[in-house]
Formats: sequence, structure tokens, C-alpha cells
Amino acid sequence: GPSCAVIAYQCHDIKVTIVDLNQARIDAWNSSELPIYEPGLDEIVFARRGKNLFFTTEVDQAIIDADMIFVSVNTPTKKSGMGAGMAADLAYIEGATRRIAELATSSKIVIEKSTVPCRTAQSMRTILEANSGKGIRFDILSNPEFLAEGTAVNDLTKPDRVLIGCLQTPEGFAAQQKLVDVYTHWIPKEKVITMNLWSSELSKLAANALLAQRISSINALSAICEATGADVDEVAYACGTDSRIGPKFLKASVGFGGSCFQKDILNLVYLSEQLHLPEVAAYWKSVVTMNEYQKMRFTHRIVRTLFNTVTHKRIAMLGFAFKKDTGDTRESAAITLCSYLIQERAHVAIYDPKVGAKQIKMDLTEPGVGTNETEVEKHVQVCKSAYEACVDAAALVICTEWDEFKMNKLDYQKIFDSMQKPAFIFDGRLILDGAKLKEIGFHVESIGKSV
Ligand code: UGA
Repeated sequence: GPSCAVIAYQCHDIKVTIVDLNQARIDAWNSSELPIYEPGLDEIVFARRGKNLFFTTEVDQAIIDADMIFVSVNTPTKKSGMGAGMAADLAYIEGATRRIAELATSSKIVIEKSTVPCRTAQSMRTILEANSGKGIRFDILSNPEFLAEGTAVNDLTKPDRVLIGCLQTPEGFAAQQKLVDVYTHWIPKEKVITMNLWSSELSKLAANALLAQRISSINALSAICEATGADVDEVAYACGTDSRIGPKFLKASVGFGGSCFQKDILNLVYLSEQLHLPEVAAYWKSVVTMNEYQKMRFTHRIVRTLFNTVTHKRIAMLGFAFKKDTGDTRESAAITLCSYLIQERAHVAIYDPKVGAKQIKMDLTEPGVGTNETEVEKHVQVCKSAYEACVDAAALVICTEWDEFKMNKLDYQKIFDSMQKPAFIFDGRLILDGAKLKEIGFHVESIGKSV
């Protein structure tokens, strides 16, 4: 949605049609309330919708009409069979590719936009070529998406780079050039990087693995900081000022979440195993293991600090999304944390500015989370404000770094006054000023800092 909306916004000469089988989702894209929250997206969609940007469920017609097709279906982790829990399920990719092959009456450039393990483009090519009739050809490109949620519009408008992979043949290069021409409508030429298909596919997994690895590295250091009296923010700052390291993605946290990092690393692990590279697989797996450890470590710290029991205690949880400025909760650290607290029979009062009760309850009752509907009904209350969540709470836990939870946005004196005493704050995102909170009277525990 966001990627193609930005193409339509930047290229008025290109007609962009976004198709989905899900009628409710398309209706939402066509309404005043878009199905996803993303700062700046409304303006872009509202400016071009009905002009050169269309949303429809008429998938077949859109395939027939298009010169270029972005395949942007999801590639969830397989739940059963070979590679279960690690490999990506490519059924939707194959389904979409077969549909294109069946319907096409003219040549198409088919662009692999979904994040897929290496060499998927090859499978798509095989399917398309086996089905191409006389006079029509299919060219495959890989064009991975690097936007992050919450900053999608900015990332798409001013990307660090755009990556386009193609088959190294004259026809491949010609197709690649056509997509380069789309992006250079608004992106400087030198930021559009071209390479072969396989490098492009692998670069996407590699970039996410490297980003997640930085977070797991700083989170591993945060455990040492807590045990020794060092401050993880200071360590991150000291390391990040080395220009070879750089300051970004060194913020210690309760653990990374989101639909991509864990999934992509597990794909890389699976790929390494398939290639008989067990040491490489173990290396990348440890990034995920460290993330799980970080989430558990934080929840254990909560229980330990609250005198080794949270049974019947009210715990206010501020933030449920996997990061700020998004309503997305996929793989959010808050889910693990909340499920653990429920199992310890705490009462969790949750507030998130963009995540509603329905979503929270759905996430907590997903298979594998460890809590069932009855427990969730009994132990979880979804609140309308941070203040409401904190009333009579024994502890407040920051799970997402929303700006509205910062010191200058919430009245922490008012929160303190409404909580049970002693009043505990657990800052899982390092957004609060521990010294000021202590002055108010809070007992403060922050990731990567000793008390
Ligand atoms: C990530 C990548 O950043 C994008 O480049 C990529 O395109 C995207 O995955 C994808 O593959 O689709 P996203 O998951 O939307 O984007 O969000 P991030 O900003 O990367 O944050 C991921 C998680 O790491 C969040 O839970 C965030 O809070 C956490 N994080 C991030 C930290 O704990 N510390 C940091 O320093 C940075």
C-alpha cells in the first residue's frame, strides 16, 4: 500500500492499481479511514486516489491491464511441514505467479517485492516461462522493500537506496532499466543500485539480520551494564560515535519485535542449514535467542523487584505495539511480557494509543502465546488512557516508546499519586528520566541501568 501509493504520488504519468482479495481491506483503502496507521500516508493516498491511484478487488483485470506487476503477498513463517517454524511459506507467491501466468495476454515485468529467501525469483521465472505463450515474455526483477513501519512515507520518499536485481541478460537489463526509470522520477540516480537477482534477494535478508544483530548486541551489553553499574545509553553513545560503528540501531530495549526481523533471520538460518553451513546457522540463530532472553530477563526483573510475586497485583503496561507510531503488534515484545505476567496471575492494565482491545485480546490468545481466552478475560483490562491504566497499579511498565509517554507529555506526579506504594516503574525503552522519577518517589528500574 504505502510503496505503491508513493509511486502514484511521485509519478502522475503512471497508473497504479493496488489489488487485494480481501474486500474489507480494499473498502478501507477506499474510505476516509485507511486500514493501516502510518504518519503522512493519508495525505498521499487522498491526493492521488481516483486520479492515478486505485484500490480494487478485481485482481484478474488488473493483471491483464498491467505492464509491471509488484508481487507483494505475504510470506509468513511455515507452521507445519518441512522447515516449520523457520522457512517462509511461499504458497502465496506461487499462487500469485501462477495467476499472472494464466491470465497474461501481453508481456509483463514481474517484480518480486515480498521478502523471500534466496532464489525465489528463479522459481517464479520457471513457472512463468513454462506458461508463456507465443509472443509474450515475462521478465523477473527483485526489488526488496526497505521501509520501516512508522516512518514508511519518509523512507519511501527519501530512501537510503533502492535495490533492483535482474537476470544478467540484455532482456533482464532492459526490464531493470524500466523500473529504474520509475524510481528516478524522484530518487537520485546514484541511490538506485542494480545487481543480480540473487544478490538483491540475499541483501534484503542480510540487511535485516545485520540491523537485528546490532540490537541483540546492545541488549546483551545491557545485561552486563545492569550487573555492573555501567549505563547502556552511555556505552551505546561511546560506541556509536565511532564512525565505523555509527549511532543508529543501538538503543537497548525490551527486545525487538515486528513482522520482519525474527522471520528474516530464521529464513537465513534455514537457508544456511540447507546449504550445510551449521556454524553460520548457529551464528544468526543466536541473534533471535538473545532477543528471547532479553524479553524473559526483563519480565523476571519485574517479578523479582515486586518482592518475587505479582499474583493479584495490578500492572500498568504502557504500549503494546512493537514500536512507536504504528498500530502493528506482530511479534511485539509486549505480547511475551503480558503472557508471562498473566501466567504469574497479575492483572495487566494495558494502554496503547493505536492498538485496541480486540487486537490485544487476539494477540494474547494466539496459539503458542501460552494464555487462553478465559485467562485473558480475567487478567487483562484494556484502558483508554495511560492515567486510567495506572490507577491503583503496583507497577508501571513501558513497553513501547510512544512520544506521549515521555516525561514532558505525561504528568508522572499525578500517576504516582494514583498508584499503590511503593510505586515501581520499569522502563523497557529508556525514554524516562530516572532521576526525576526518583525525586517524585518512584522506585525506577531501567533496561541496561542498575538501580
Ligand atoms: C525493519 C527494518 O528496519 C526495515 O529496513 C525493513 O524494511 C523492515 O524491517 C522490513 O523488512 O519490512 P521495522 O520492523 O518496521 O523495519 O521496524 P524497525 O524500526 O527496524 O524496528 C524493529 C524492532 O527493533 C522494533 O521493535 C524496535 O523497537 C526495535 N529496535 C529498533 C530496538 O529495540 N532498538 C533500536 O535501536 C532500533
